[in-house]
Amino acid sequence: MIICHCRNITCSDIHGAIDWMRQADPDTLITPRKVYRALGLKADCGGCLPLFLDTMRRNANLPIRPDRAIPVLKDPQKDQASCKAIPKSSTTSTVQSAAN
Ligand code: FES
Repeated sequence: MIICHCRNITCSDIHGAIDWMRQADPDTLITPRKVYRALGLKADCGGCLPLFLDTMRRNANLPIRPDRAIPVLKDPQKDQASCKAIPKSSTTSTVQSAAN
C-alpha cells in the first residue's frame, strides 16, 4: 500500500527502513525524517505524516528495547529532600527583616 504519494513510499519501504536502522543501531531514536533519509528521499507536502506515523508505530522494531533504554538515575523525591536550596519565600522574609 502506498503511504506517501508524493514520494511513492510504500508500507514495506517504511518497515524495511525501520528494520535496517534498528539493526544498524539498537539505541537510535527512529523518526519519520530518518526513515525518509534512509530511503534517500525528503518529505514534500507532509500530508502523509499521520498515516506514515501509524505505519511506523505498527513496526515492532520502532521502540528502543527496554533493556537498552537509559536508566532513571535520579529519584525526584529523594532529590527534593536533600535539596539545600533556600525556598524563595524565606529569602523574601530575610530581606524584609534585614531592611527593618
Ligand atoms: S504525501 Fe508524503 S510528502 Fe506528500
